[in-house]
Amino acid sequence: MIIDQTKIIRLLETEIQNFAAANPRSKLLFDRATESLAGGVPMPWMTEWASPFPLFIDCASGAHVRDVDGHDYVDFCLGDTGALFGHSPPAVANAVIEQATRGYSYMLPTEDAVWVGEELQRRFELPYWQFAMTATDANRFAIKVARAVTNRTLIAVFNGCYHGSLDETLVSLQDGGMQPLSTNMGIAVDPAQTTRIVEFNDLKALEVLLAEENIACLLCEPVLTNIGLVFPESGFHKAVRELTKKYGTLLIVDETHTICAGPGGATQELALEPDIITLGKPLSGGIPSAVYGFTEEVGKSISNWAADQDSFVTGVGGTLAGNAFSTRAMRANLEQVMTDQAFQIMTERAQGLVGGVESIIKAFALPWSVARLGARIEYRFYPQQPRNATEATQISNRELERLFRLFFLNRGLMLTIFYNVALISPETTVKDIDRHVEVFREFVELVNC
Ligand SMILES: Cc1ncc(COP(=O)(O)O)c(C=O)c1O
Repeated sequence: MIIDQTKIIRLLETEIQNFAAANPRSKLLFDRATESLAGGVPMPWMTEWASPFPLFIDCASGAHVRDVDGHDYVDFCLGDTGALFGHSPPAVANAVIEQATRGYSYMLPTEDAVWVGEELQRRFELPYWQFAMTATDANRFAIKVARAVTNRTLIAVFNGCYHGSLDETLVSLQDGGMQPLSTNMGIAVDPAQTTRIVEFNDLKALEVLLAEENIACLLCEPVLTNIGLVFPESGFHKAVRELTKKYGTLLIVDETHTICAGPGGATQELALEPDIITLGKPLSGGIPSAVYGFTEEVGKSISNWAADQDSFVTGVGGTLAGNAFSTRAMRANLEQVMTDQAFQIMTERAQGLVGGVESIIKAFALPWSVARLGARIEYRFYPQQPRNATEATQISNRELERLFRLFFLNRGLMLTIFYNVALISPETTVKDIDRHVEVFREFVELVNC
């Protein structure tokens, strides 16, 4: 089926009008917000939703969100992973309510921090852990650690990556060369001085890069999630590990999104052996916190490096990192929410969703596909999965993708802000999944007629 682009634009206009008519309170708040918040939102990308203005949210619980106009949504965005295990899981809510009367920030450790370190050790098989406030910070600190340990400054990333608002990672590969992302404002240092980039699944290019023996670390997601899902080819990660070891480059695995793969993230699922792991977003049930963990060898190098310094200003950490409040939430979340059983439920529901939509794709003989990584599902309006970010960009149809997300939103189902991704929490019910499949069918019938 080839969908007429003018039809997509016409349908999109109708959905935009319907959205505006159905959300007068959100519109009023947005208009008011433009007087005090730049762009009418607290964060620039909040205007990037498929809708003409963002929904303003009243409250959320489990897998549901309610907006200020009183609409209930099944939330398949889940805070773009921040609420992957559901909104306000009772175990986390109770823990933070209790902690709220015992102080938030002592600048001293608590027993919870030790418990969390031990639990992370168990899940990810790395011996030493440190805390940060966001995944961006965890990545920033992990890169600094890698530089200190290797005495090299350059880092390498894969094309299509996103690891937070770090200038040195906001780059892309264009016509064989690296470019800073044109949307990244106020860059102080030309990324050519800090960064090298290669396509995912391109081992030859990676080896050429690493063979220079001047790359401190390769910072990567084990499965790309920020250009839609892009999976590693068979043997890719094994070779990446061998090459990074051979040329003295530390391997940093960012599990912030790929934690959806299982209790120990994609690291456990794909049997990876990184030198450093970073993880943020859902770790404290959506309350800001992040961690990075590293090997015995990296730990020793840091200790040696620190012993040579006569100041405590190491350039990592922050006053609020490891605070008692978010650490309590982290413990409750790891102990009672991010359990093996929760992952089992999420994965089963996600499989159910994929089965449902795939049968519709088949019935209508659509040249579309659905990919799944644990509890993360992505639609592509293309029959094959891309091998890298360049292919992913080439097969994207932005208007159709926007129409898809807005069509779902107008029918009470919230997909993620970027890409056509649905996240499944342990609170997402079979009824929620059935509704998703039903709306998918309605969408297919609309664009197919
Ligand atoms: C893989 C990955 N790492 C890090 C980050 C940064 O997370 P945060 O914005 O919470 O710092 C993101 C954000 O989407 C991400 O997708």
